[in-house]
Amino acid sequence: MCGIVGYIGKPESPSDKARDVVLEGLARLEYRGYDSAGIAVAGSQPLAWLKREGRLDNLKAAIEAEPLPPASAAIGHTRWATHGAPSDTNSHPHISHDERVAVVHNGIIENHAALAAELAERGIERVSETDTEIAAHLLAIELEKGADLLDAMRTIAGKLEGSFALVALDSQHPERLVAARRNSPLVVGLGEGENYLGSDVAAFVGETKRALELGQDTIVEVTADSVNVIDFDGNPTQAKEFSVDWDLSAVAKGGYETFMDKEIHEQPMAVRETLRARTTEQGNLQLDELRIPESILRSIDKIIVVACGTAAYAGHVAKYAIEHWCRIPVEIELAHEFRYRDPVVNEKTLVVAISQSGETMDTLMAIRHAREQGSKVLAIVNTQGSTIARESDAVLYTHAGPEIAVASTKAFISQIAAAYLLGLYLAELRGNKYVDEIAGYLDELGKMPGRIEQVLEQEEQIRELARSMADIDSVIFLGRHVGYPVALEGALKLKELAYVHAEGFAAGELKHGPIALIEEDLPVFVIVPTPRRPLLHAKVISNLQEVRSRGAKLIVIAEEGDEDVLKYADPSQVFWAPRTTPTLMMPLVTVIPLQIFACEVAKAKGYDVDKPRNLAKSVTVE
Ligand code: AGP
Repeated sequence: MCGIVGYIGKPESPSDKARDVVLEGLARLEYRGYDSAGIAVAGSQPLAWLKREGRLDNLKAAIEAEPLPPASAAIGHTRWATHGAPSDTNSHPHISHDERVAVVHNGIIENHAALAAELAERGIERVSETDTEIAAHLLAIELEKGADLLDAMRTIAGKLEGSFALVALDSQHPERLVAARRNSPLVVGLGEGENYLGSDVAAFVGETKRALELGQDTIVEVTADSVNVIDFDGNPTQAKEFSVDWDLSAVAKGGYETFMDKEIHEQPMAVRETLRARTTEQGNLQLDELRIPESILRSIDKIIVVACGTAAYAGHVAKYAIEHWCRIPVEIELAHEFRYRDPVVNEKTLVVAISQSGETMDTLMAIRHAREQGSKVLAIVNTQGSTIARESDAVLYTHAGPEIAVASTKAFISQIAAAYLLGLYLAELRGNKYVDEIAGYLDELGKMPGRIEQVLEQEEQIRELARSMADIDSVIFLGRHVGYPVALEGALKLKELAYVHAEGFAAGELKHGPIALIEEDLPVFVIVPTPRRPLLHAKVISNLQEVRSRGAKLIVIAEEGDEDVLKYADPSQVFWAPRTTPTLMMPLVTVIPLQIFACEVAKAKGYDVDKPRNLAKSVTVE
């Protein structure tokens, strides 16, 4: 997610401190992942700004070459692109048409296109591809009418839809900064004779440990000596003061011990943001970025998913849903196998490339091969402007935010959510499902963040079990139907984090060989389908009986209230998925205990959870 830093000092004593505090804050926010950075200052002179694509060092080099004037007010930004590829122009701060206002933003202004059209009618054209630039122009228009920055911000906050943490600087009043927040995080840092703003406390923790938490739909006006908080209606509102008691490294992880812990807990947000703005008020799908002609999408007779590792398992989960909804065969191909086996691919094949990084070389080579064979390629990626995104015919972005830990968690379930949106879109387009059926599935998807939060409440029991089992050296994971790819993913998590040999099997495969592995005390994880699918459920219950009777130590993921599993598994080793979770949505919750278990076993073994041995976050070699 984007990083924001703001500094406000005394206008009578502009200095380089404003610049330095912002640059230092941006450096502390680098962990959030970004593709460009920028800064704007005001005080001794009219507005001055610099912004560059790439690392923070590029911005610092630009400042070396074109020094910024001493200032009393400064705002800075590290951008994680959501609208518009990474570039100098698309970097923040964005400047108003009259060069009076600078704005930095974290979030998505969903109605930016409509607002841009209104501005164009006034002769104000966007110079960037971003949603954020709209806010700078709208503020300047209000200031031209005589409003002050606080009133101007309140006026535009009522016009913006979506999620935003906006910080604005009026170069004619460098004694204040004004910010507004809805859904995206923003905090105020309280200093002595100066104050700060940040997307999280890492932005200013080097200057102060005193902070103010801003509530939803609030606007704050900050000067060197005052903080004034109002709601969107202009009424004064309270902001809770708190003390930052984290050390610097913890601050980067949002207070969590590791990035993986943080990202496991970000999964409800990741799914929510991936779904956001992709349905109309009537509940219909709107996948604007799906730029493959509808006629082609109607004509495809096969889908091939190409991906690696966890991304491939996400595609495997999606296979069950897309085939069920669209009645199109969906093949799952490991990207590195796909290219070398002379696959049957043509213009009637839709290749779906799934990749968190968007840079996995195996997947990139696979889509190049597919396109040479005439097929259209749709990418589901988490990184804006990545190579796979650029080389695909269409992109469906997951909005999970940067995933720092090497082991993928929030990207995995965001990929499933995005693939489900694709499946529902195709089902609606091709007439396989009625609009009300689509709306029903979308409604169930919309409930998943809350259901994930319910499973996260079992975290401590899962961690306790993991610590008690830290000496394991071989584990089996069993699942059936959509539980099968979840079993594969659970095994991968344990392998890559705790270096434990683990293998996932389709539960029905047990009797065809793997059951020979079952012995006394062997840990066996079983993902049990809902009892509302009696045939599937009964088969897996008998698998529980088969392994239990041979002495296995059962750890079970089942639906709340499924009494049958308690005949074979100790209650302390059963973790529950929320009741009424539809079968096709179950992977979004049944994977959570497996992620937490693997993470905790790795910690108990003293391993680096965020950077496991031998692994890279993005495998950019074949
Ligand atoms: C997942 O935990 C692993 N880090 C790995 O399997 C990863 O999913 C795979 O390398 C694909 O990466 P991508 O999603 O960036 O393409």
